[in-house]
Amino acid sequence: MGVLGGSGYVGGELIRLLLSHPEADLVFASSSRFKDEYVFRAHPNLRGLTQLKFTDESSIASSTPDVDLVFSALPHGESVKHLPSLVQTGVKIVDLSADFRLKDPAAYPKWYGYTHPHPELLERFVLSIPELNREEVGGVSLASSPGCMAIATILGVAPLLLSKSLKIDAGRIVVDLKVGSSGSGGRPSLATHFSERFGVVRAYKPVGHRHTAEIEQELSKFTNDGVKAYLSAHSVNMVRGILATIHLFVGDAVEPLEVWRAYRSAYTGKRFIRLVRDRKGVFRYPDPKLVIGSNYADIGFELEPGGGRIVVLVAIDNLVKGAAGNALQTMNIMLGLDEWLGLESAPLHPV
Ligand SMILES: NC(=O)c1ccc[n+]([C@@H]2O[C@H](COP(=O)([O-])OP(=O)(O)OC[C@H]3O[C@@H](n4cnc5c(N)ncnc54)[C@H](OP(=O)(O)O)[C@@H]3O)[C@@H](O)[C@H]2O)c1
Repeated sequence: MGVLGGSGYVGGELIRLLLSHPEADLVFASSSRFKDEYVFRAHPNLRGLTQLKFTDESSIASSTPDVDLVFSALPHGESVKHLPSLVQTGVKIVDLSADFRLKDPAAYPKWYGYTHPHPELLERFVLSIPELNREEVGGVSLASSPGCMAIATILGVAPLLLSKSLKIDAGRIVVDLKVGSSGSGGRPSLATHFSERFGVVRAYKPVGHRHTAEIEQELSKFTNDGVKAYLSAHSVNMVRGILATIHLFVGDAVEPLEVWRAYRSAYTGKRFIRLVRDRKGVFRYPDPKLVIGSNYADIGFELEPGGGRIVVLVAIDNLVKGAAGNALQTMNIMLGLDEWLGLESAPLHPV
């Protein structure tokens, strides 16, 4: 396997997971800043675990890499520069950037501010959330992994849209997101400077978040009604983790059993989904603190007394189920391996 963008936070998680994967060999990881330096210079947590050195991505993209699959953890706008030549080589690809997530080329100027230079490739990349489209992912050689907020939202909403008895208003899906600092990557900025970031509950994107596009695109597959999602994203005082609080509006009163039934019917046997709604203890609902370091998505809900609203709560680690873990799960499926290989470790607690 190879990792483009290996020096970033997502690249580091991919490398960490690949190093303990029983069937994977990490052949290269790219970085221009750390070119010819040991991987542990960028990821000191991997000290003693690999002697691999970073290579420059331009040299990898211009030759045929001797690997089964390449991950790209480059920023959007960068992935699209390097992946088209790799597609030509026939190597399998999982892209974690936004460059191949959207199907409509016109969405790129609107949401990402650039005209897509390879619109012909957009239909060839399958946006992978294995819990929802495993069969489709199994047959492809090009996949992309959704944004972390999109994964949390889509996992929480899709089963309820599929339910025949719940009449969810698909035109009014309201999502409040609380996101840890690693969600904005490893490059420092004034907004991520410790003195400015520590202790915040900062609404950094109360409207118009880019992940709206992929959420609406993917959720539209689960209903014939037009999907409209309204996202508000907040930076909170965590390094890892996302909590999505999703407000779904329903005309009639809903019984808890109907909601359970919808989730069970979608997720029974899906190893990385945990349905959470406890009567006792501190952690009665999903909490990012309980999924850190793991590929689990914890999903729970509560009903508005008197009806009208279902509040769905989804917690993931943005760097694992929200990025590297989902991508590795996708790789396993694309290569015909057990879906959970290399992803079985339990979350850390306390963190
Ligand atoms: N962070 C998350 O929670 C998360 C979740 C899901 C998806 N993603 C996506 O995953 C990708 C990587 O995210 P990240 O959080 O790992 O970001 P990051 O920490 O900033 O890492 C970016 C990586 O891309 C490389 N790179 C190459 N050209 C670059 C350029 N022009 N500007 C900046 N970096 C460049 C960087 O290494 P060198 O500069 O050394 O070459 C680095 O290895 C992004 O597309 C992001 O949207 C992130």
